[in-house]
Amino acid sequence: MLLSSILLLAGAQSVFAKCKCAPTDECWPSTDTWSALNSSVHGKLARNEPIAKPCYQGPGYSSQLCQIISSNWTSNEYLAKFPIGYSYPLVESCPPVNATLAGYPQCDLGNYPVYSVKATTAADVAAGIKFARDHNVRLVIKNTGHDISQRSQGYGSLSIWIKSIQDGLHYHDRYVPGNGSCPSNWTGSAITVGGGYVWQDVYDFAATHGVIAVGGADPTVGVLGGFMQGGGHGPVSHFFGLGADQVLEYKVVLASGKLVTANACQYADLFTALRGGGGGTYGIVLSATIKAHPTCPVLGHNLDIVALNGKDDAVIDATGNIMSKLPALSDAGYSGTAILTPYAGPLVYTQPFLNLLENNSTEALESAKDAMKRLILDDLLQHNGASYLVTSTFTTYPTFHAYYSSTHHTTPGSNRPIMASRLFDKQTLESPKNNLTSLLETVTTQTVPNSTLWATLFNIVAGGKVLDPVPHTSMNPAWRRSHLLFQQIDVWPDNAGTEEIQQYRNVLTQIKLKAMKDMAPGMGTYLNEADPYDPDWREDWFGDDYDWLASVKKKYDPESVFWCWRCVRNEGWEEVTGGAWFGPLCETGN
Ligand SMILES: Cc1cc2nc3c(=O)[nH]c(=O)nc-3n(C[C@H](O)[C@H](O)[C@H](O)COP(=O)(O)OP(=O)(O)OC[C@H]3O[C@@H](n4cnc5c(N)ncnc54)[C@H](O)[C@@H]3O)c2cc1C
Ligand SMILES: *[C@@H]1O[C@H](CO)[C@@H](O)[C@H](O)[C@H]1NC(C)=O
Ligand SMILES: *[C@@H]1O[C@H](CO)[C@@H](O)[C@H](O)[C@H]1NC(C)=O
Ligand SMILES: *[C@@H]1O[C@H](CO)[C@@H](O)[C@H](O)[C@H]1NC(C)=O
Ligand SMILES: *[C@@H]1O[C@H](CO)[C@@H](O)[C@H](O)[C@H]1NC(C)=O
Ligand SMILES: *[C@@H]1O[C@H](CO)[C@@H](O)[C@H](O)[C@H]1NC(C)=O
Ligand SMILES: *[C@@H]1O[C@H](CO)[C@@H](O)[C@H](O)[C@H]1NC(C)=O
Ligand SMILES: *[C@@H]1O[C@H](CO)[C@@H](O)[C@H](O)[C@H]1NC(C)=O
Ligand SMILES: *[C@@H]1O[C@H](CO)[C@@H](O)[C@H](O)[C@H]1NC(C)=O
Ligand SMILES: *[C@@H]1O[C@H](CO)[C@@H](O)[C@H](O)[C@H]1NC(C)=O
Repeated sequence: MLLSSILLLAGAQSVFAKCKCAPTDECWPSTDTWSALNSSVHGKLARNEPIAKPCYQGPGYSSQLCQIISSNWTSNEYLAKFPIGYSYPLVESCPPVNATLAGYPQCDLGNYPVYSVKATTAADVAAGIKFARDHNVRLVIKNTGHDISQRSQGYGSLSIWIKSIQDGLHYHDRYVPGNGSCPSNWTGSAITVGGGYVWQDVYDFAATHGVIAVGGADPTVGVLGGFMQGGGHGPVSHFFGLGADQVLEYKVVLASGKLVTANACQYADLFTALRGGGGGTYGIVLSATIKAHPTCPVLGHNLDIVALNGKDDAVIDATGNIMSKLPALSDAGYSGTAILTPYAGPLVYTQPFLNLLENNSTEALESAKDAMKRLILDDLLQHNGASYLVTSTFTTYPTFHAYYSSTHHTTPGSNRPIMASRLFDKQTLESPKNNLTSLLETVTTQTVPNSTLWATLFNIVAGGKVLDPVPHTSMNPAWRRSHLLFQQIDVWPDNAGTEEIQQYRNVLTQIKLKAMKDMAPGMGTYLNEADPYDPDWREDWFGDDYDWLASVKKKYDPESVFWCWRCVRNEGWEEVTGGAWFGPLCETGN
């Protein structure tokens, strides 16, 4: 299939003004030319091989290795260790199947980079950028490969992989940007994250200094890339603002290869674009200094509502009722991600929330518990045992780290989920005009046909501090009006064919996302956890900021060296797929 699609593409290319050189093109750099790049990055260039190649007959075949790869295939942490490990492949071009069996698929690189610079320094990063520009090769930037919209992938590309940049984590009692030359309103402590670290690294480091950093719910998410540059929410964003709100200063390699420091005083426009405008777009970030907040006691609350005797409707109805109370719960200091899913068998609503307490006085503790009882439990417990079973547990922890370490957070990877999401404001959720149960029915039951798995997520990660505008940030302004990031995840069955997959996607975009938009018009969503097939993605992901972000992109990357699908100012280029899944990147001339 791949060969024929490439032949087709070779023909399709001629109608385009100019395409990036692909491996099948004559203009693709020679082995010697790639070797010269390898020398300039001191041997840190890798020619990529599909991770699951050992599963396939031929050189490198190893049944033993294949088994190890297969059993780790859904671990995001495992995948992140490879230059071309990706949580959300555009297409599985080399699945770890048992290739001794008849009818196994082909194994090739698919949409993944052909070469990767395992950069350890700014000079490596600059050499990779220069090479891509000089030789007209598509460039992508990668950290963990967690991106949901394939923004760290690219057919026929050279990847700058920042994971090996490890200049350490540094704690500052008080940090002033620009070596003290840039006035800052922040008087607290800070952490400099010098490279390709993940949140687990920073959480552990922060705990040794008695502070909290605003990271992801999942510890395997990268710090500097998509998360921070795209907004970033997690268990404590409600209390301290989004991930992007925390940044005091960045070190960035520009498309020109120049290393600059961006803060509120220098490269302020770039600094602003890198705080919400999306990853992979404006430059390659090597380090960020972020705010750190004193740790405090935590009240954890776990609520489970489990359907009895197949009475799923009752759980959906109870969830709809809770959904209308989420803004009030958020205002009372609760935060976290609740999930409605039939994954374990019966339909279950699970709410693992936390509340950061000012102090561990009985008074603070009781007032937090009272709010939960008053808003949710009193009403819910009255129906306990009839159609569903309710369990509610409060637990206290001396610090945020103690809370975080006590629960299991890693999300199992799967290459098949699709998602759609919407930010909801308080008014929409509290208005009696809006039937939330009906919305839940639409997003959960119209999964066609026979989805094996779905989950509805209620991310109570906004509200609170997220509502306060922060100077020099560029997140979708809808965040500043939101209490909830509502998210639907569907997973199609293992054996689904191309048409069936397309059907799932269509239902998600045309029915489920549409229902969310109809209920919350004029809002938008979080660009990192969105439906990439949303036809209004520019408006929905960036709001009114899009044009300004596009002007910053044009200023710092006029030649679109850092082009990515579903990124700001990707107009004028397109992937010419000729009906296949992927293909060369070409200039469309408009
Ligand atoms: C399991 C899982 C859990 C998640 N949990 C959360 C969560 O709790 N909260 C949340 O907000 N989001 C969450 N996300 C979404 C996550 O924020 C995005 O997937 C994000 O894009 C990941 O960034 P990354 O850098 O780790 O991934 P990558 O795929 O490596 O990169 C993502 C984007 O950033 C760019 N990029 C990477 N590094 C750099 C750099 N140094 N400079 C410039 N651009 C760069 C890439 O080009 C790409 O566009 C989760 C995703 C997954 C898969
Ligand atoms: C780059 O050089 C290193 C060290 O000499 C070598 O191991 C590696 O295979 C080379 N990469 C390529 C793509 O040739
Ligand atoms: C593949 O199947 C064959 C035959 O059933 C078996 O011997 C082999 O161990 C399997 N390999 C893997 C990697 O599972
Ligand atoms: C992969 O899976 C095997 C079990 O099959 C396990 O022993 C190993 O620790 C896993 N992780 C890695 C990184 O290989
Ligand atoms: C801060 O000081 C260091 C060391 O003197 C220097 O390398 C760096 O460029 C300075 N940064 C800024 C933003 O001026
Ligand atoms: C500090 O606060 C003032 C007043 O809100 C604001 O105008 C200014 O932009 C802020 N400075 C920074 C660096 O955020
Ligand atoms: C509350 O904090 C004090 C002082 O830090 C500590 O001695 C005490 O054990 C804490 N109480 C609880 C219930 O955690
Ligand atoms: C503890 O926090 C509560 C608010 O949650 C506050 O009213 C009270 O004064 C605080 N007590 C102490 C001893 O700081
Ligand atoms: C809300 O929708 C549900 C399901 O469609 C329905 O049963 C219920 O009567 C509706 N509630 C109101 C107040 O209209
Ligand atoms: C869906 O499930 C039903 C009942 O289990 C079955 O009859 C039908 O064939 C399934 N449809 C598809 C497309 O798998």
